[in-house]
Amino acid sequence: MGLCSLWWVLVLAVICGGGGRGSGNVAHGLACNWGSRASHPVPPDIVVKMLKENGFDKVKFFEAEAGPLKALGKSDIEVMVGIPNDMLAGLASGVQAAVNWVSANVSSYISKYGTNIRYVAVGNEPFLKTYKDMFVSTVFPALQNIQAALIKAGLAQKVKVTIPINADVYQTDSGLPSGGNFRTDIHNLMISIIKFLNDNGGPLTINIYPFLSLQADPNFPFEYAFFNNSAQPVVDGSITYTNVLDANFDTLVSALEKNGFGSMPVIVGEVGWPTDGDPNANIANARRFNQGLVNRIISRQGTPKRKTPPDIYIFALLDEDQKSTDPGNFERHWGLFYYDGTLKYPLDMGNGKSLAPAKGVKYLKRQWCVMSPQASLSDPNLAGSIDYACTYADCTSLGYGSSCGRLDVRSNASYAFNMYYQAMDQRQGSCSFNNMSVVTAIDPSQSSCRFEIMIDIGKHETAKSSSSKGTKLNLGMAFIVLLALMISGVRNIY
Ligand SMILES: *[C@@H]1O[C@H](CO)[C@@H](O)[C@H](O)[C@H]1NC(C)=O
Ligand SMILES: *[C@@H]1O[C@H](CO)[C@@H](O)[C@H](O)[C@H]1NC(C)=O
Ligand SMILES: *[C@@H]1O[C@H](CO)[C@@H](O)[C@H](O)[C@H]1NC(C)=O
Ligand SMILES: *[C@@H]1O[C@H](CO)[C@@H](O)[C@H](O)[C@H]1NC(C)=O
Repeated sequence: MGLCSLWWVLVLAVICGGGGRGSGNVAHGLACNWGSRASHPVPPDIVVKMLKENGFDKVKFFEAEAGPLKALGKSDIEVMVGIPNDMLAGLASGVQAAVNWVSANVSSYISKYGTNIRYVAVGNEPFLKTYKDMFVSTVFPALQNIQAALIKAGLAQKVKVTIPINADVYQTDSGLPSGGNFRTDIHNLMISIIKFLNDNGGPLTINIYPFLSLQADPNFPFEYAFFNNSAQPVVDGSITYTNVLDANFDTLVSALEKNGFGSMPVIVGEVGWPTDGDPNANIANARRFNQGLVNRIISRQGTPKRKTPPDIYIFALLDEDQKSTDPGNFERHWGLFYYDGTLKYPLDMGNGKSLAPAKGVKYLKRQWCVMSPQASLSDPNLAGSIDYACTYADCTSLGYGSSCGRLDVRSNASYAFNMYYQAMDQRQGSCSFNNMSVVTAIDPSQSSCRFEIMIDIGKHETAKSSSSKGTKLNLGMAFIVLLALMISGVRNIY
């Protein structure tokens, strides 16, 4: 933005602002979710550089992550900090709890590090039908207490509250967006919350997942999930809907209009497409969806009912190998990037600029754990060993229709062994598996199936300490190491 300073900012605003055209930057206005359920995360300072290089100027967290929030200090990137659902009851219990939370997780980062925190997301999809009514009584009082705490901290002008909700809080009886209204069981609560947000200048945040719509309904018209498609459009009065994202968003807009909040600001808190773990989750579909999404974000395209485009936080920036697979194996593969910030597919970020990968990531040694050529496929320990490896490491790429779903039995075992070995930071004894495995320097990756090397997070042994430990740690030892890891990582389990 060098050229666009001083008084002629006004004149050049159109050229240098918005799309960043003319200044050599990529388009701004991109936003994404930065999750932390990764066993080997990219160092936060590298992620921040990558965000800036790719034109992301907003980022959303599910928790107040200390490392990333510090790394974002003075970056100007706008931050939405999340409060997990399991903290809602505590925060609902009184204003003091909220005051403590805001002080520790908002005020301190703003004042000490200059982190540009702009939103606090209270809870995450608290009304999801599958949660039954678990958070229904706590989310609104928690929201009110956090707002009160922000006022007390003198931050209420700068930091706004919101609640990210799943699109299942609204529905349409007519099957068309114009029939939208809030679910009857939480209708009154939703109206109270929206009124409160509106009174305090906070937006409503909604998560919309065309991919999940496709997963949920075998009759869902595949093409309609994408933006540039050959789907039969849906005609709703004078409006024609060409894709499910527009239709879904406008169902919410109709629900808001019907209840007197037609101009309520809305943020799309999550939207994206996974690349693995399901036949519909692949590189081609994800690239198609996300390119269409990025195109409409940078061209500032709204929906038929709202010409002003909402802020859209792409889900997600990076793959996370420790996410719960309850929703499906695809859950660990939502990243625009692989877990380590490498590219999955090219993406045009505007003005011909392509998506840029993370730079400066340090990896463990280039070595993999594979099934030994001497080991027999009829070894009675084989199935148990694969099971063991996959209990503690991420094998979600091995499933039907996934990137490693077509490996033969031997490579399949190798994949599992390697994921375990890498998850254990290549430590001594973690490539043992009843003598069925061996370490190799030859990359066993084949076609779509990547045999990963994990990021060096400083947990592997140095050559010296490993040799001094003697030859062989067995699986039992590895298990202890693992338990320790799990205990230290408990916070990271959904
Ligand atoms: C936020 O603040 C509270 C203090 O109320 C603290 O207990 C909590 O661990 C902090 N961190 C996160 C990630 O919420
Ligand atoms: C949309 O699809 C058409 C035909 O499939 C193609 O020619 C066009 O380039 C696509 N546009 C975008 C923006 O992807
Ligand atoms: C590969 O391993 C996974 C995980 O144990 C298993 O579900 C799958 O059936 C295996 N595939 C083959 C071809 O052995
Ligand atoms: C492991 O395999 C090696 C060579 O294949 C063999 O010499 C050794 O005795 C085996 N050890 C065990 C415990 O089976």
